[in-house]
Amino acid sequence: MSVVVIVGAQWGDEGKGKFIDYLAKQADIVVRGQGGNNAGHTVVVGDQKYALHLIPSGILYDNTANVLGNGIVFDPSGFFKEYDALAAKGVAVEQIKISNRAHIVFPYHREMDALAEDAKGVNKIGTTKKGIGPCYMDKVERTGLRIGDMLNRAKFAEKLRVQVERKNQIAQSLYGVTPFDYEAIYKEYSNYAERLKPLVCDTVAYLNDAYEDGQNILLEGAQGTLLDIDLGTYPFVTSSHPVSGGFTVGTGLAPNRLDSILGITKAYTTRVGAGPFVTEQDNAIGDRIRKQGNEFGVTTGRPRRCGWLDLVIVRHAVRVNGLTAIALSLLDVLSGFEELKICRAYQLNGQETIDFPADLDDLAACQPVYEVFEGWQEDITGCTDYEQLPDNAKRYINFIEDFLGVPVAFISVGAKRSQTIIRQKLF
Ligand code: GDP
Ligand code: IMO
Ligand code: MG
Repeated sequence: MSVVVIVGAQWGDEGKGKFIDYLAKQADIVVRGQGGNNAGHTVVVGDQKYALHLIPSGILYDNTANVLGNGIVFDPSGFFKEYDALAAKGVAVEQIKISNRAHIVFPYHREMDALAEDAKGVNKIGTTKKGIGPCYMDKVERTGLRIGDMLNRAKFAEKLRVQVERKNQIAQSLYGVTPFDYEAIYKEYSNYAERLKPLVCDTVAYLNDAYEDGQNILLEGAQGTLLDIDLGTYPFVTSSHPVSGGFTVGTGLAPNRLDSILGITKAYTTRVGAGPFVTEQDNAIGDRIRKQGNEFGVTTGRPRRCGWLDLVIVRHAVRVNGLTAIALSLLDVLSGFEELKICRAYQLNGQETIDFPADLDDLAACQPVYEVFEGWQEDITGCTDYEQLPDNAKRYINFIEDFLGVPVAFISVGAKRSQTIIRQKLF
């Protein structure tokens, strides 16, 4: 029995989908614990490319159960779009289980997300406009509707009516927009409820039973450590807890049931959305990384901001997640550079620091302190063993390992399952 947690160690899009799919082969269950369809996880199998948003990345294995845990926010329209597209490709979607405790995203959440962003003007966060923040706001305010509510028609009708009335008051007074139509929303969501019934269960009991039965459970992180609402670059964050601790409340599996915690770490750094980014290369280097790494968002199509690897960030991720191992992804994207840089500290107010600042003005004032490495020119996309990597790539990896004090257990040199170097087994 083993519970393996996978989290993003940076700002998301670290290649979590690839590693979840890769490790799901040995897992009985794959579980999402927080976030919603703001996530975009890419899985490449042969010449097929899948973009998963809400459905866990273990879905491509016929015998793996895929669970949406209690901590997620569930948009039924997005979910069924994905579900139907996968079913049409012959994927066994009936293995999905959805928590009756998960909160529901409604059209007014998506609309309020977009309106709030527009109202912020130059200070906007750059959200995915999927309604994630507004849905979590209702949850924390204790007015949200949960999937369990949707399955009871009378209760659902009453709760939804109250919510739509309140949202209309807010939308009209703040933004002067057309009110939401209760009847239309009720009708649309009643149809979803019928389709959802067979998929909904108490996933907290299901997961703990599975744990006690000795099953292998893989917890699928979405977003990344720096997007955590407490531990990330607030307010340029998402509205949930993408760190390992988020899984205990987001799935109901207690902290002492988590065995290993794998941090997926891109060999460089990217972010989508606004906010300070110390190692950003808003120049020809960043353009080259974006082109070689095809760094465009899976959910919104936005070009990702690119820069050098920042180990101040990853050290923060090691500590707050309790990472037991690192998977270094997209290393192949760095092939062909004359020289590579890794940020090993920040200069702030004339002093060097390796602690990630809490204050965003401090972060914006930080200058990177770089360690410079000679690049490698070889194509490494066919390497299947650490020993096959060029010496300069090994030096780059060894520096990361020594700096963080955590083993680099996996190295990814391409998007396919076969393009993975294993140095340490997790299951
Ligand atoms: P996630 O959100 O963490 O699952 O990551 P995304 O799917 O948003 O972005 C990662 C991108 O990198 C996807 O297009 C993957 O197919 C791709 N990818 C993953 N690992 C590798 C790798 O080692 N090399 C290359 N070149 N691409 C990779
Ligand atoms: P995966 O799982 C990268 C970012 C958005 C924005 C901020 C808030 O693919 O790594 P939200 O819509 O969540 O309120 O937006 O968070 N963001 C992500 N960035 N990868 C993601 O997911 C993200 N999910 C949210 O770009 O800056
Ligand atoms: Mg992504």
